[in-house]
Amino acid sequence: MIDLFAGCGGLSEGFRSGFEPVLAVEHDLAAAATYAANFGAGHVHWGDIAGVGEIPEADVIIGGPPCQGFSSLGSRDVDDPRNALWKEYFRFVHRARPKVFVIENVDRFLGSAEFGLLAREAAASGYTLTWGLLLAADFGVPQRRKRAFVVGSRVGAVALPGPTHPKGHWNGVKTAIADLPEVPVSTTLPERVTEVFGRRVPGCFRADELHLGRNPTALSLARYRAVPPGGGRFDLPDELLPRCWREKKTGTTDVMGRMRWDEPSLTIRTEFYKPEKGRYLHPEHHRPITHREAARLQTFPDDFRWCGTKIEIARQIGNAVPPVLARAVAERVADHLGN
Ligand SMILES: C[S@@+](CC[C@H](N)C(=O)[O-])C[C@H]1O[C@@H](n2cnc3c(N)ncnc32)[C@H](O)[C@@H]1O
Repeated sequence: MIDLFAGCGGLSEGFRSGFEPVLAVEHDLAAAATYAANFGAGHVHWGDIAGVGEIPEADVIIGGPPCQGFSSLGSRDVDDPRNALWKEYFRFVHRARPKVFVIENVDRFLGSAEFGLLAREAAASGYTLTWGLLLAADFGVPQRRKRAFVVGSRVGAVALPGPTHPKGHWNGVKTAIADLPEVPVSTTLPERVTEVFGRRVPGCFRADELHLGRNPTALSLARYRAVPPGGGRFDLPDELLPRCWREKKTGTTDVMGRMRWDEPSLTIRTEFYKPEKGRYLHPEHHRPITHREAARLQTFPDDFRWCGTKIEIARQIGNAVPPVLARAVAERVADHLGN
């Protein structure tokens, strides 16, 4: 397989049981280093996708261009610079001629002009598309993350997987993080660097080294203490409310939110360590979730290794496709190809 826009390799992790990576492309150094630490550096192209000249053959291409704000449906401007990455994706499809390609993206992708362009290009190249929204919780991931998946095939349509854990059988946050210590191990990563692609990068770090806390102010702590499980900013008494929230009586309901043990979390985004950005307070303890907990909620295995600064690793975690969701798609593809 070829993994484009590979990030730290969440998608690859899900596909690794059936497919061997022959090329991964990623331009962020820390993410490429994490990918290399887990899948080997030999097949990683660290750099802009446009700079990849040699494209190997592959049965499957996975990955999806990051959303840079999609154009609205109906606009068919093929020269929109936002389409450049889609054109790159298809450069790989044309050269590698995979039997199947898999694209993951944010849910609004399916209503965008880019999706229209992609569908046209896929049909012109002999690929049949199937697409839909998959909810990670429906596949055992303790997270309500909804993402668009598009599968193109030139060997017969590939159906998307159906839920293995439909609503009522969702895994709660408890299944992922209840065994982890209340008190984070540190507020900083160990001082360690690794050399990869001729550069020095912080890491690699083990999952347990990612159980990182912050240094909240007394005011932040008082706010955390005021929020019950499932609650959020509306539970804060007036004296603890920042002015912007006091004046904004509706909307942004998830900020300063606390998770519930028995329910999946909401989407783990790239700034999950900031409670003011979403429902990221631990179900019980008065702190946001740690990087380690976020990686668990994203279903990364504990032996996954991480490279980069705290902020860079958080971005890798939040940007990733949960491996358990990726595996459900990978199994469909593998079945279809008779692997
Ligand atoms: C949403 S993330 C991918 C997550 C990945 N599929 C996973 O499951 O872990 C998109 C990635 O595309 C990378 N990227 C964006 N533009 C790129 C480009 N022009 N060339 C190479 N990589 C790029 C970003 O650095 C980012 O890591």
